[in-house]
Amino acid sequence: MRLLVLGSTGMLGQALMKEAKVRNIEALGMADMGQADVLFDICNDAQLIKLIHDYQPTTIINTVAMVNLGVCEQDPGLAYRVNTRPAGILANMCRNYAIRLIHISTDHYYTGGADCKHNENGKISLLNEYARTKYLAECLALTYDNALVVRTNIVGFRQQPNSPTFVEWALKIIENDEPCVLFDDFYTSSIDVTQFSKALFDLLNKNTSGVINLACRDVSSKKDFILGLSSGLGKSLTKANSGSVIKSSYQGVVRAESLGLDVGRAEAILGYQLPTKDAVLKSLIAQATRKMDEIRK
Ligand SMILES: NC(=O)c1ccc[n+]([C@@H]2O[C@H](COP(=O)([O-])OP(=O)(O)OC[C@H]3O[C@@H](n4cnc5c(N)ncnc54)[C@H](OP(=O)(O)O)[C@@H]3O)[C@@H](O)[C@H]2O)c1
Repeated sequence: MRLLVLGSTGMLGQALMKEAKVRNIEALGMADMGQADVLFDICNDAQLIKLIHDYQPTTIINTVAMVNLGVCEQDPGLAYRVNTRPAGILANMCRNYAIRLIHISTDHYYTGGADCKHNENGKISLLNEYARTKYLAECLALTYDNALVVRTNIVGFRQQPNSPTFVEWALKIIENDEPCVLFDDFYTSSIDVTQFSKALFDLLNKNTSGVINLACRDVSSKKDFILGLSSGLGKSLTKANSGSVIKSSYQGVVRAESLGLDVGRAEAILGYQLPTKDAVLKSLIAQATRKMDEIRK
C-alpha cells in the first residue's frame, strides 16, 4: 500500500501516520502548515491533482476539515471549500487512477434520541454549517464506488497549544480542578484516535465501501466521559456543574446532541468488538500519564 494522508498534522492525521509506521506502510502526509511531508491548501485543485499524479498512492485517507463549528457558521463558503468540495475532486481522481478513497466524516447528524445508537441508515438532521458541509462531502465521496465514508466521534491529542482538543481541555480542567460546565444531554460514542486508527487500518484490509460507523461501542454523555477521565486519574472535579447543550447553544451554534453510533456493521466486518468506553478512557489516561511524565523529565 502507498498511503496518502490528507491532514496528517491534525489530531487524527498524527495517529494515522504513527499507525502506518507501526505497520510498515509507506505513507506521505499532507497539510497546509506545520510538520507535514507536503504543504499546501486543499482548496488548491491544481496542487491536489499534481500531488496525486506524482505520488501515485494506492489509498488516500482524507481527514482534512474545518472542525470548529463556530468558524464554519461564520464562513460557510470557506467551510464548503475545505470540508466539501475536495471530496468531489478526490472522488474523480481516485476513480481515474483506481485509488482507494477513505473519507473521514462525522456523527453530527442526529438529534432527539438521547443516548440511543444510530446506525448508518439513521435519520439525518443537519442543524449547522459543519453538519451540512460534512454531509454533502459524504455524497460527493460516494459518487465513487470504491469510497469508504467513515462516521465517527474521535478524541485525543493534537499537541498544538493554540487549539487544544476536547481531551486536552478536559485534562487541564481536571489537573487544576477548575470551575466548568459539563453537558449531561450531549451523547457521543467517542473513541481515541489511537484505537480508531488501528481499527481503520484493519478495515482497509477488508475492501469495504459505502458508509460505516467506526467508534466506541458504548454511548455516554460528555459529563460522564469527563468524570470517568478524572476518576481514572485519581482526581475530583469539585467545581463542576451540570449543563445542557440543547439549552445553551454552546458557542452560538445549534448542535445535534444524540451522536451515539451503532458500530454493529463495523464489528461484523472486522470480526472483533470495538473498544468500550472504559477501554477508551484507559487508553487516554495512559497517554496523558506518559505525556505528563515526559514534561516532568
Ligand atoms: N475532532 C472531532 O471531535 C471530530 C469528531 C468527529 C469527526 N471528526 C472528523 O475527523 C476528521 C479529523 O479531525 P481532526 O480533529 O483530526 O481535525 P484537526 O485536528 O483539525 O486536523 C485537520 C487537519 O486538516 C488540515 N487542514 C485544515 N485545513 C486545511 C487546508 N485548507 N488545506 C490543507 N490541510 C488543511 C490541518 O492542517 P493545519 O493544522 O496545518 O491547518 C490538519 O492537519 C475531520 O474530517 C473531522 O470532521 C472530528
